[in-house]
Formats: sequence, structure tokens, C-alpha cells
Amino acid sequence: MPVSIRQIHPVFVGEVSGIDISKPLTPQDVAAIEAGMDKYAVLVFHDQKLSDEQQMAFTRNFGAIEDARGGNVTKPQDKRLATGMNDVSNLGKDGKPLPRDSRQRLFNLGNMLWHSDSSFRPIPAKYSLLSARIVNKKGGNTEFAHMGAAYEALDEETKAEIENLVCEHSLMYSRGSLGFLDYTEEEKAMFKPVRQRLVRTHPVTGRKSLYLASHAGAIVGMPMPEARMLLRELNEHATQPRFVYVHRWRLDDLVIWDNRQTMHRVRRYDESQPRDMRRTTVAGDAPTVAQAAAE
Ligand SMILES: [Fe+2]
Repeated sequence: MPVSIRQIHPVFVGEVSGIDISKPLTPQDVAAIEAGMDKYAVLVFHDQKLSDEQQMAFTRNFGAIEDARGGNVTKPQDKRLATGMNDVSNLGKDGKPLPRDSRQRLFNLGNMLWHSDSSFRPIPAKYSLLSARIVNKKGGNTEFAHMGAAYEALDEETKAEIENLVCEHSLMYSRGSLGFLDYTEEEKAMFKPVRQRLVRTHPVTGRKSLYLASHAGAIVGMPMPEARMLLRELNEHATQPRFVYVHRWRLDDLVIWDNRQTMHRVRRYDESQPRDMRRTTVAGDAPTVAQAAAE
């Protein structure tokens, strides 16, 4: 049975059937999924029971796995999963939900703010793949917003105003907006802001999109409050319900999204209950803009 994709939202998102992704894929399958990603930006696969090894093997069909270093405050000895896997659960190494005052947990709450994965890296991520191993009974939906549709709905004046703007992205901006402000010197160096274009062009489709994220906290050459106000307004515009798909997780769902044309966030859930979500990330291949020369 060939791969088939059915659009499940007026603007984007495809539901995929006819494939078992735990097994090696044919080049035709890979091409069909890539084409689906370019077209729908988010693909949903149901009933895909995966081991970490199978998830990583599936991920490598779409490019190299991103080096996860510099993306969190979890110490190497506290990591629950092997290299190559991003742990976006609420679990500690002992498999139990992290305590309320856990620094790791509080930092990871930033995933509940709208963002695009790894926009805080000079070369940001291509795809993210999230596998649902233990789901929440209530809450914990992931929401996706389509940044191409949001861009196209802007008026021409705004499009012209923002066309060449460059933002500064850092995990310290997103976490800082939640009042998470204490970092070691090492973390400050690791989370140093990087530059990203505010309007980016998809490398395959040529479609323009807003490149927003809660990690964006400044615009080059613009006073801070003015920049934050503009970013806030654009974020409000881009996350209107008409541009948003709400994913209600089922056990063994796998969702892939293209970080180059979407934002996402997880919604609140009962953190006394385990939520085991495991992400792999396909590295991007180009910066969106040149970084500033080193000071
Ligand atoms: Fe994310």
C-alpha cells in the first residue's frame, strides 16, 4: 500500500497512512514524506510503536540528527535518554515526574511558549519528530501555527516594514519571559543570542513565512520596547485560531513538523502524571542570515 496523505486542517497538516515507519523506508516513501512535509508542514502518523533506535533511523532519512548540546540546562549525568534523543518528557532519570522545584523542569516549561525548535542556534533545525510513549489523560496537547499562511495574511505595508528585519534569539529571552533569570557563566555563554531573519523563504517551495519564536527578544537596530511590541503583535497575529492546528496525542503517535514554516507549543497538563515524549531533530543546512562579527 503506498503512502497516502489526507489534509486535516483548512490551512496545513496531513495525516499519513499506509506506512510502518519502524521498518526501513524505500526511496519512494522518503520522497513522498518529504514532499508531504513541504506541502503540509506538519504530518501526523498514528499507531507507530517505536524504539529510540527506530526513531533515530527513521529521522536520518531526512538529514543528519542535530547536535542537541546547548539546548537545555540538564546536566549530562542527569540525562535519561541516549545521545541523539531530545527528552521532552517531565521525567527524571529515575523515570518519575520531576519535582516541582526542579531547575530542569522549570526551564523546560518554556516549551509551553510558542517557538520554533533551535531558532537559538546559528543554523536552526529543519524537522522535529515527536513520538508519544506515555500520553496525558488530560491536557498536554501540542499546537502548531502555520507561519506561511500568517505571513500571507499580513497587509502589504507590514510586509514591507519587516522584510529585512533581523531578530536576536536566545533561550534566555524565552525563559526570561517566565521569570527564569538565573544562569551560570557557562550557560550565559552557551545561550548567547544568535541572529535570524524575521521573514524567511522556504528553500524548496520558495514560500515566505514569519520566523517567530518566544526565543526572539530583540531586533537589530530597533529600541528594545519597540522591538518587543512589534514581535508581540506579530505573534498574536500568527497564532490566531485560523492558523492553528491542535494535536490531541494518542499513544504511539508520531508527529513531524517543519520548523522552517511553523511554530508550536505544548499546553499545560497534570505534572504529577508521567508524560513521556521523545523528540529527534533533523539539523538544518543553512543560516537565515549572517551572524554578527565576533566582538
Ligand atoms: Fe519545541
